[in-house]
Amino acid sequence: MVPNLVVPTVGDYEAARAAFSWADARAGLDGLPGGRGLNIAHEAVDRHTAGPGRDRVALRWLRRDGSVTAATYGDLARATNRFANALRDLAVGRGDRVVTLLGRVPELYVTVLGVLKNRGVACPLFAAYGPEPVRRRLALSGGRVLVTTPALYRRTVAPVRHELPDLEHVVLVGGDGGPGSGGREAGAGGSGTGEPDPGRGGPVLAFDRLLAAASDRFTIPPTDPEDRALLHFTSGTTGAPKGALHVHEAVVAHHATGAVALDLHPDDVFWCTADPGWVTGVSYGLVAPLAHGVTTIVDEGDLDAARWYRILEEQRVTVWYTAPTALRMLMRAGADLARAHDLSRLRFVASVGEPLGPEVVVWGREALGVPVHDTWWQTETGGIMVANLAGAEVRPGSMGRPLPGVEAAVLARGPDGRAAVAPDGAVEPVDAPGVAGELALRPGWPSMFRGYLHDEARYRACFAGGWYLTGDVVRRDADGWLWFVGRADDVITTAGHLVGPSEVESALLAHPAVAEAGAIGVPDPVVGEVVTAFVTLGPGHAPSEELRRHLLGFARRRLGPAVAPRAIAFDQDLPHTTSGKIVRRLLRARARAADPHGSREGPGP
Ligand code: WT7
Repeated sequence: MVPNLVVPTVGDYEAARAAFSWADARAGLDGLPGGRGLNIAHEAVDRHTAGPGRDRVALRWLRRDGSVTAATYGDLARATNRFANALRDLAVGRGDRVVTLLGRVPELYVTVLGVLKNRGVACPLFAAYGPEPVRRRLALSGGRVLVTTPALYRRTVAPVRHELPDLEHVVLVGGDGGPGSGGREAGAGGSGTGEPDPGRGGPVLAFDRLLAAASDRFTIPPTDPEDRALLHFTSGTTGAPKGALHVHEAVVAHHATGAVALDLHPDDVFWCTADPGWVTGVSYGLVAPLAHGVTTIVDEGDLDAARWYRILEEQRVTVWYTAPTALRMLMRAGADLARAHDLSRLRFVASVGEPLGPEVVVWGREALGVPVHDTWWQTETGGIMVANLAGAEVRPGSMGRPLPGVEAAVLARGPDGRAAVAPDGAVEPVDAPGVAGELALRPGWPSMFRGYLHDEARYRACFAGGWYLTGDVVRRDADGWLWFVGRADDVITTAGHLVGPSEVESALLAHPAVAEAGAIGVPDPVVGEVVTAFVTLGPGHAPSEELRRHLLGFARRRLGPAVAPRAIAFDQDLPHTTSGKIVRRLLRARARAADPHGSREGPGP
């Protein structure tokens, strides 16, 4: 039996809010048999295998080479059982972190779910991160196991493996074998030989051999809903990346929000374009749709307008969750391309990650036949908190309204742009419409993060007056809809991904010519913001086009394409506070004043 929680679409918002409770949402899931707790992997996989859902396609991977790999819920249950057993055989267990550095290949999904079955903590890293971001996150994660490809291992991990004392096992994905598949090369830059490559960093294991040697039967041990399950890194303005920890109970929110915000129904074919290296690709590219028992499409390739339209048509996608940057690129590719495809199956489209301009919502109605529903959330919230809900009015340009079960407030701000907190800890909710303030959420929803790994102080600093402070500034209109204004901090949002300016700055500072660096996001019509660095050169170095290109390449090699600056401006007089910190707000003003394309590498996007 697959008891899908079919929440009626939200025609009457207030009634839907009044009718909702998280306890009811929890009752829409199974729980482990025999009352042994709640485990994400059971809700996402095993519970579907007791009935006809067993033979339904759970995941369909569209591989880079054009082939297709599919796994039914039954296939997925067996493959994840094998991986859970393999971990157990390695004496890796409850609470142990298992990190993946993989493209969107089957092995990534099997690993994450197998780890959850074994009560470990899964931490997927983005494969487009360069050696620096990977090393920092791997070290912070304390991961005991890393699953990656031979090429990524050689390039990013082997050189620093000796700096990772917690990392005991490296499992390499290459050669043949995906779950329930015809066995394809695992992609993501494999060595081509399919043999594990010991590299120089230490011993490695082969994913396929581990799986083949393990039993496909596994009983999920009792799982406390508060057991840690997922670790997602996110970026702040300063300091190291923050590792947000989520628990098994989060699946209650993934499931419920999948219904109210993404309109998932049992027969849907769902496509979430986000990579599991980001929270969206796990919460909604894996957990929510599988918990609903729907078929999920995974495209291994990168954004390409023509191919994406083809996927929507050929895979008969009914519900699509994507990002503003992607939609703006489709928009630029022209309406003819959209019209050349049969998108009549597409019933619901939603977006997340950055402001979705009203023009994209309107374009969606024309080109896709449905409006785009903006949704808002964060790594820390684990699931969608605010949305233009299914079945309700869409307000183009608005993030929407708080979901049933979510209480939001707009808090008055202090001089630093963040919510003003009185000495006794009190904050001041603003009820008047149209006033910009910091968005705050009342803690208590199931997918709320339970801490930043190794950083209790930073976690505590996220709360005041009984609210979780989001760091985003919004306005509420007279009808209760929320409108995104901007971030209250200096974090950069590029192509829907957060980039911490300090990470970019420290990579540049590693270069002998750089004395000082400040990184900001410069507004861009397609990707939202382009990572841009201001650099002060040290004595004996003079600005030149050659040095600029050299520094761009230097940063890119260390940071990878997802994080590296796309533009560098030389500036011998960076603005500082009296305490010596770079004032990024003034850098943004300088960037606005300058020719925005003057310092770009090659033609702009
Ligand atoms: C930050 C969270 C959670 C999914 C993706 C990113 C920005 C997110 C919207 C939106 C304007 C948005 C916010 C937020 N953001 N959704 N609909 N409109 N901005 O998770 O990497 O933790 O980033 O992305 O600034 O705080 P994340």
